[in-house]
Amino acid sequence: MKKLNTRSIRKRKTNPEAKKLQMLTCYDFQTANVLNTTELDLILVGDSVGNVVLGYDTTVEVSLAEMKIFSAAVKRGAPDKFVVADLPFGSYATYTSAIENSISLFQSTKVEALKLEGANEENYKIIKRLTEIGIPVMGHIGLMPQSVHSQGGYYKHGKHLEDKIRLQKEALELEAAGCFAIVLECVEASLAKEITAQINIPTIGIGSGVDCDGQVLVINDLLGMTENKPKFVTPVANLFQVKKELISKYLQ
Ligand code: KIV
Repeated sequence: MKKLNTRSIRKRKTNPEAKKLQMLTCYDFQTANVLNTTELDLILVGDSVGNVVLGYDTTVEVSLAEMKIFSAAVKRGAPDKFVVADLPFGSYATYTSAIENSISLFQSTKVEALKLEGANEENYKIIKRLTEIGIPVMGHIGLMPQSVHSQGGYYKHGKHLEDKIRLQKEALELEAAGCFAIVLECVEASLAKEITAQINIPTIGIGSGVDCDGQVLVINDLLGMTENKPKFVTPVANLFQVKKELISKYLQ
């Protein structure tokens, strides 16, 4: 399969024949090796690494140094895939630090793009500048795990009119700022569908219904490795149990 780039990713939205974009998270070299041999379109080194690999309570604890280690490992394992790395909490709090930290993460890991959460005037400026200097940016709105404390927990977004209008405006502004795609996390399915129709860049949904231009899942949830998986995921295996059984068999 030909490696995607920002142009071919955008084209998938406009081609009615094209398959929806499929993105999975990945955090290590060996899993990246496996994904590299599949038809997967995009890999996300999500800051969900904090929850599923490092055992943190929230993604707020993930540092830039950690994102560099995991992103570089994944990129080494999946040279033929378009890899997106998350900018972690606090690393893009100010314009200057955002530009410096983004260059550092992008250059040291060799990933193809970065993702940041939230839509506000400061983020639009950051996205515009990063895009200008050659760093593609994926946006992320709706449920934003880095803002779990200010958003007041994890829940569905876009249920109320005010919220709905705000999310639509944010998606349009992120597109105008230069994002090549936007993650819609836990956004009401009907609203995710509307946003997808309103913007010209692909939307990649997670817990946001089936009408986005693509879907992203945390690989550990998909493979049944996490005990508290989100309701919207149908695991394809129960690797937690499989590993347990294999190790127990070895221990006999
Ligand atoms: O960190 C992550 O895994 C993510 C996805 C849930 C989109 O941001």
